[in-house]
Amino acid sequence: MTQQKALFLKEKQGAWEVSATSIPEPGAGDLLVKIEATALNPVDWKIQKYDWLVEEYPAIVGTDAAGEVAAVGDSVAGFKVGDKVFHQGWFSNNKATFQQYTTVPAEIAAKLPSNISLDEAASIPLGLATAALGLYSTLDKGGQRGAGLTPPWEDAGRDKYAGKPILLFGGATSVGQYVIQLAKLSGFSPIIATASAKHTSFLNSLGADHVIDRNKPLSELTELVSLTKSPLEVVYDAVSFPETQQTGYDVLAPGGTLVIVHVEQINKDSSANKTVTQVFGTVHGSAERATGVSLYSKLTSLVEKGEIKPNRVEVLPNGLAGIPDGLKRMEEDKISGVKLIARPQETSLLSQ
Ligand SMILES: NC(=O)c1ccc[n+]([C@@H]2O[C@H](COP(=O)([O-])OP(=O)(O)OC[C@H]3O[C@@H](n4cnc5c(N)ncnc54)[C@H](OP(=O)(O)O)[C@@H]3O)[C@@H](O)[C@H]2O)c1
Repeated sequence: MTQQKALFLKEKQGAWEVSATSIPEPGAGDLLVKIEATALNPVDWKIQKYDWLVEEYPAIVGTDAAGEVAAVGDSVAGFKVGDKVFHQGWFSNNKATFQQYTTVPAEIAAKLPSNISLDEAASIPLGLATAALGLYSTLDKGGQRGAGLTPPWEDAGRDKYAGKPILLFGGATSVGQYVIQLAKLSGFSPIIATASAKHTSFLNSLGADHVIDRNKPLSELTELVSLTKSPLEVVYDAVSFPETQQTGYDVLAPGGTLVIVHVEQINKDSSANKTVTQVFGTVHGSAERATGVSLYSKLTSLVEKGEIKPNRVEVLPNGLAGIPDGLKRMEEDKISGVKLIARPQETSLLSQ
């Protein structure tokens, strides 16, 4: 078989369309993965709306996959045809995940543990990478892209930050759910997160100590943070609106780091000695690759032990053809505390 179905963005800011295309070939070190589940992310609709990140059209996007190894490239060790895996994709047509087959370097793929489904596994890669790189990525040539903390999947990092508070804006976002879980493994305490009040017990179950209703004035949050015993040295803003960025910056202790997920919009105090770093949430890039390889070497075990739990998922109908409606719901801010999943193999011929 050489042909598959993919969801194409036909041109810049154009329409989505399912059509046939060739199955990519795995290069040296790569896996070819038959995708059983892919997750939708805000970046996917933002690419269509804002003409961003992608240069070549027609383009396939999508960057979360779980499925089965269909072939292995030269020099791949540790994986064989038939293994169930999950991984992050990238915005090139042979690595994106809104298609039935894709390729990925084996060093940034993880085997599926038996305690989660393929749908759940597809909710992990991009959200977890963004959380992990924001907290643990270190200085690189292009500037700081993370808080540079020691990762908890390395022995030296487990519980290293015990007794230190952390504040998170957007606890119920996909990224935020992974920030809570990683912060717990790092020992941070208390873990304070903003979210809709309905998510309180769920986020408590992931490790949040205090969940603050995100619809309350941010001034109330400032007061609560001032009650933490130790200085607030790390703030992660998983929504990064101008007002959350500014509040996060203002409550940060001198010497601390604010991690943001969008372009900085902060009135800064040049004498404050506070670092602001914008995460680039992919394990594919050269700057983040080493942290990504290290994370993926431990990821199966972290999930198997229940130390990293996937997001709650909602499976969309109609395979790849169901993705555009899901992206519309995301754009309209109608998704709350759940990851939307599509199953590419369920794309019917009528979708072509
Ligand atoms: N820089 C990067 O590389 C990178 C990578 C990944 C994602 N991102 C960005 O990070 C953001 C989060 O991505 P995601 O996939 O995790 O999003 P998501 O899960 O789709 O986000 C949906 C959630 O946003 C929450 N939310 C909306 N406004 C909020 C506010 N003012 N305060 C607190 N929570 C709020 C809602 O929380 P409630 O349900 O509690 O109301 C909802 O559950 C997006 O803007 C995305 O574009 C950036």
